[in-house]
Amino acid sequence: MRVGMLTSGGDCQALNATMRGVAKSLYKLFDDVEIIGFEDGYRGLIYADYRVMKSSDFSGILTRGGTLLGTSRQPFKLMRVPDDYGLDKVESMKHTYRKLRLDCLVVLGGNGSQKTANLLQEEGLNIVSLPKTIDNDLWGTDMTFGFQSAVNVATNAIDCIHTTAASHGRVFIVEVMGHKVGWLTLHAGMAGGADIILLPEIPYDMDIVVKAIKERTKRGSRFSILAVAEGAISKEDASLSKKELKEKKKSGMIYPSVAYEIGAMITEKTGQEVRVTVPGHTQRGGEPCPYDRVLSTCLGAEAANLIKAKKFGYMVAVKNNEITSVPLREVAGKLKMVDPNSSIIRQAKMIGISFGDE
Ligand code: F6P
Repeated sequence: MRVGMLTSGGDCQALNATMRGVAKSLYKLFDDVEIIGFEDGYRGLIYADYRVMKSSDFSGILTRGGTLLGTSRQPFKLMRVPDDYGLDKVESMKHTYRKLRLDCLVVLGGNGSQKTANLLQEEGLNIVSLPKTIDNDLWGTDMTFGFQSAVNVATNAIDCIHTTAASHGRVFIVEVMGHKVGWLTLHAGMAGGADIILLPEIPYDMDIVVKAIKERTKRGSRFSILAVAEGAISKEDASLSKKELKEKKKSGMIYPSVAYEIGAMITEKTGQEVRVTVPGHTQRGGEPCPYDRVLSTCLGAEAANLIKAKKFGYMVAVKNNEITSVPLREVAGKLKMVDPNSSIIRQAKMIGISFGDE
């Protein structure tokens, strides 16, 4: 049994833990298994940059963040575009797979990577994939590995802001990653006790955000903390077409990110001092939290099960607290977003958190 393995796209804390789960299970399930690790994600598969892994490579890595194989972003939309030297990337990946006589390829990746995984299975390769991303935006799974670890880091950032915020009478904004979705901001915001949470799925009205801050001041609170998703969007911008929004951003782009723009508006409308904190890539760094270590181990073991059962073209997933699998063709190209009408949003609103919408 020859299994290829790669980690693709933005890294996260539990990639090594997941590879360990897959590898240790494979070594148990098969008498004779060889794992080929591709360097830097699909780049390694395209350019045949790989190494034969030893079982010892997968020991002692449960708690180690990052990825021992390295990763890179190879955009899905460019997969069908030849590289600078005219190389057909898809043909090249198929060639590497066949030259190495792989029985299957294990892909640990997020949205774009799952699309490429689906493309490769449509091209006839045996693929098993695993749901990686701190954004938790993969359709078909309730949970992705990396998410809870990132929630921990972002929550810690908000916790730290809390103590300094309590000392100064200021408005603090913590900008949280998550790309186009708000899962990370929602969970870190609630866990960190943020007063206002702004998500891409719930466009905000600046007047309502300002009203929420003023009401807190009126009630005697010295500070307010906003957890703002990097993809947060105003009602006004959300009503524009993609093209109009792009043009607006091009013409008036004076802030490094949304948190700074919101911060400037708050100062203008309230006269209050505002400080912005962007934890950025620290949210993908450090060691995986215990939840992710367990999740990754279970997902990895299930990936090995799928390989044993020759059930290819699937992504391992979590549904209703059970480890299961979903066809890659159903996952590819779909985003799992926060439902503005979900119970968690309703409950957050019940305790007084403002989402800047009402
Ligand atoms: O998808 C994970 C993620 O960390 C997003 O939350 C963020 O928008 C993006 O990757 C950042 O990407 P990069 O590391 O390429 O700057």
